[in-house]
Amino acid sequence: MRLLITGASGLFGSKFAEIAATKKYEVYAGYLRDRPSCGVPIQFDVSDKNQVDMAFKKISPDVVVHAAALTDVDKCELNKKLAWKINVEATKNIVEAAKRSYSFLVCISSDYVFNGKTGFYRETDRPDPINYYGFTKLSAEGLVKNLREYCIVRASVIYGSTPAAGKINFVLWLFNKLKRNEQLNVVTDQWNSPTLNTNMAEMTMEIIERKLAGTFHLSGATRINRYDFAKLVAQTFKLDSDLIRPITSAKCSWFANRPRDSSLDTAKAQEVLENSKPLPINQALERMKQELTPFM
Ligand SMILES: NC(=O)c1ccc[n+]([C@@H]2O[C@H](COP(=O)([O-])OP(=O)(O)OC[C@H]3O[C@@H](n4cnc5c(N)ncnc54)[C@H](OP(=O)(O)O)[C@@H]3O)[C@@H](O)[C@H]2O)c1
Repeated sequence: MRLLITGASGLFGSKFAEIAATKKYEVYAGYLRDRPSCGVPIQFDVSDKNQVDMAFKKISPDVVVHAAALTDVDKCELNKKLAWKINVEATKNIVEAAKRSYSFLVCISSDYVFNGKTGFYRETDRPDPINYYGFTKLSAEGLVKNLREYCIVRASVIYGSTPAAGKINFVLWLFNKLKRNEQLNVVTDQWNSPTLNTNMAEMTMEIIERKLAGTFHLSGATRINRYDFAKLVAQTFKLDSDLIRPITSAKCSWFANRPRDSSLDTAKAQEVLENSKPLPINQALERMKQELTPFM
């Protein structure tokens, strides 16, 4: 199987490429600035139609996992043109190329397609984004649905044991701060379903191996607010949780609105997947601890 991953230098894509490379697949790792360390690196700009077409011509992929995106929620709000170009126009390029090469397309999407009023969203619930990032992700989903063979994978607050795409994720940020005995503020009024990239990558692997179509919520299994999540991280790594101070999001100078509760219901994945399931938060953090142990 020839597998093309876009965003293979990112938080999800780098872990997915790492796992895919251990299998008997030809893995092509798409990137723009940060050269991926797993798979055959292929540099192209997903928002440039010619570059996308050339990459597809060269690889002729059986499966494409499209994870490249502009994921900075505030940047998307501030630079809507750029957000549309990278999250929507690029997906259009990928969809059209996938159609021509008869590739099975897995598109990575987000819990931010929901408005966050109720939480614990199922795949069948109506999206209603409240910020521009969520709007672009929903628009991209709409394009993907024009294909005959596709899967949309939604996740929520992805974290992992390695920095990726030149930045660290929430858990690593927290871990580094607590290790240095620094105080930090974390919001109490935002709920998500934090997703360990390793768990998400393994579940996505099953999606492509079984060619499961439709929409799947492949997040972690636990709905939790950021503050409690942070406390749990401190407990797991035996760090001082008193350094974590509760605040409300009203105190944050974010530019974009955030959904209050964008947690995802993973019942469908729990039922359909056979090899790996959405992990409860304690198990996921223990897994991350194992991954980090050699470096601690
Ligand atoms: N992070 C989260 O908490 C979260 C939550 C829910 C859903 N998601 C979704 O999950 C997917 C993966 O997110 P992530 O956090 O793993 O991403 P990330 O770490 O922010 O990395 C973004 C990736 O996109 C690539 N990229 C950006 N612009 C590109 C362009 N014009 N052409 C080619 N590649 C480009 C980057 O490549 P270079 O680094 O090489 O430039 C990088 O590999 C995205 O679809 C995101 O919307 C993320």
